[in-house]
Amino acid sequence: MSMHVAIIMDGNGRWATGQGRRREWGHRRGAEAVRRVVRAAPDLGIDALTLYAFSSDNWSRPAAEVGLLFRLFERYLGREAAELKENGVALRVVGRRDRLSPQLVAAIERAESETRGGQRMTLRVAVDYSSRHALLEAVRNVAAQHGLAADRPDLSAALGRAMHAGGPSPDVDLLIRTGGEKRLSDFLLWECAYAELLFTPKMWPDYTGEDLAAAIREYASRDRRFGKVKLAG
Ligand code: FPP
Repeated sequence: MSMHVAIIMDGNGRWATGQGRRREWGHRRGAEAVRRVVRAAPDLGIDALTLYAFSSDNWSRPAAEVGLLFRLFERYLGREAAELKENGVALRVVGRRDRLSPQLVAAIERAESETRGGQRMTLRVAVDYSSRHALLEAVRNVAAQHGLAADRPDLSAALGRAMHAGGPSPDVDLLIRTGGEKRLSDFLLWECAYAELLFTPKMWPDYTGEDLAAAIREYASRDRRFGKVKLAG
């Protein structure tokens, strides 16, 4: 069974300020939670894991916080690529790259090429990501190539392909959001068409491999019908 899990890692700031500390502390501890979860995931049967690290809306945060998030991300790429490779994890970064620093883009490319070929799991990290932007770009590309005639039979497939021109993305099976909020925040709108949704009040820096295992158990107990009715017997 193949399984694509996506996680909206929310609650870093509240976790830190709730302890009288700065939001940045929460992001640092959040990066440690990323390591824990990425280590746990392949053994839970997850073969694609997509993490929402920085949404396009996050640019409106204070410059110092944005800067720290990118530094943490760059450090993660530099430090973790070897271990990812060793564990058979292929890393891919999804989202826009045209607004990232050349240094970060270079670090992304290095980590992607170092881990290419990992067979146990694909780790997709979403940076400067907006699902609406990805959809609009896909529509523009398909329209430019072949037109968008309504009777075109392969329009949906062509759009799906155009959205994942940088590498395939299976539909999301399970979407987890930590931090207590219950919304999608412009994340994987297309890919989550039939995703099971799981919202937990736990703040991201507290999230563990065991929490992920519990989420998978809950997912396994759900009855996925994909819009069909269940046949008796
Ligand atoms: C949401 O918490 C979290 C983020 C916007 C950033 C996620 C980043 C990390 C977990 C660390 C770095 C990532 C990697 C891949 C190493 P929030 O700040 O919105 O929390 P709040 O809702 O409590 O304010």
